[in-house]
Amino acid sequence: MNITETPNRLPRQMKALRAHARGGAEQLVYEDAPKPPAPSGSEVCVRVKAAAITFDELTWPETWERDGVDRTPIIPSHEFAGAVSAVGSDVEGLSIGDEVFGLVPFNRDGAAAEYALVPATHVARRPASVSDVVAAAAVLPALTAMEALDEHLGLVAGQRLLIRGGTGAVGSFLAQFAHGMGISVTATVRASTAVERAKQLGADEVLVAEEAAGVAAGTFDAAIDAAGAGTPEWLYRAVRPAGRVITLQELPDADLAQNLGVDARFFVVSARTESLERLGAMLAAGDVEVAVAQTYPLSEGRAAYAGKGQAQRPGKTVLEVATH
Ligand SMILES: NC(=O)c1ccc[n+]([C@@H]2O[C@H](COP(=O)([O-])OP(=O)(O)OC[C@H]3O[C@@H](n4cnc5c(N)ncnc54)[C@H](OP(=O)(O)O)[C@@H]3O)[C@@H](O)[C@H]2O)c1
Repeated sequence: MNITETPNRLPRQMKALRAHARGGAEQLVYEDAPKPPAPSGSEVCVRVKAAAITFDELTWPETWERDGVDRTPIIPSHEFAGAVSAVGSDVEGLSIGDEVFGLVPFNRDGAAAEYALVPATHVARRPASVSDVVAAAAVLPALTAMEALDEHLGLVAGQRLLIRGGTGAVGSFLAQFAHGMGISVTATVRASTAVERAKQLGADEVLVAEEAAGVAAGTFDAAIDAAGAGTPEWLYRAVRPAGRVITLQELPDADLAQNLGVDARFFVVSARTESLERLGAMLAAGDVEVAVAQTYPLSEGRAAYAGKGQAQRPGKTVLEVATH
């Protein structure tokens, strides 16, 4: 008998993208994996339809370990849309079949799989007018931008924000939201071809490549590094004393921040149903633009992760896991 015909085996297995050892896209394999167990009291199981990629997630410690313990094999991608397939006994307000979107905690198996287990507090209903792909693409960068502006940057209308990487996923939402709040936005981009895009997103001023390093000291009320690791010294210097510097990929340089008198912080975004509902309402109203660069079937997940920096269009890369 063919193994796939073994009756007791089929319901316990699902297709997933997994890495059995630390590394980059080269470690990812599309294979059979155990389906998640039944949800505990406060969890839901989601049949994933779309799962978005943050390329740097393969460098995050949480992707590979929990409480210092290696947790390979891991399933990447934490940003998803799908339908609830099972509900824990304590969950209220969600039922099997509900169309949802949300964020799997980063130290748990992710959404690049047919099923994902997620706390009900990390999920909200997906508005019917918003596609699975768009909802999945928006979740992580939009929530990060919202939390940065609401809780960390400390800015009000009329103040000045510097965004390093103003046309990336997080940078795009930061620029749109900050502009909408009446904050003056200066975005840095790597190439002059991105200048128009940055302006469309709400940047009042765009600095290309090394232009950014020449910005006058103390020009901005706050700056955020939405480009990744290695936050340059000029970004700290560009902020006025007592202004905020936010890093998103690694801890800020505490000595440099202290010497310059700036308040430097790192945070990891938290998913909350209320924030997701707020985002869902914005998406449904068309108040925010979500760029999707490309989609891949889950079976081509390794190629999707390997395609970092190769997309012809700006925006998120999204895995299409199921279409119904
Ligand atoms: N702490 C958190 O909760 C949290 C949440 C989400 C993301 N993150 C982190 O935030 C960072 C951004 O994530 P993302 O999803 O927005 O990534 P992304 O879509 O790849 O965006 C990064 C952007 O930075 C640009 N960039 C790279 N180097 C640059 C440079 N030297 N100068 C100017 N721009 C530069 C890239 O330009 P090109 O398009 O030209 O490559 C790209 O537009 C990642 O490190 C990610 O891990 C953290």
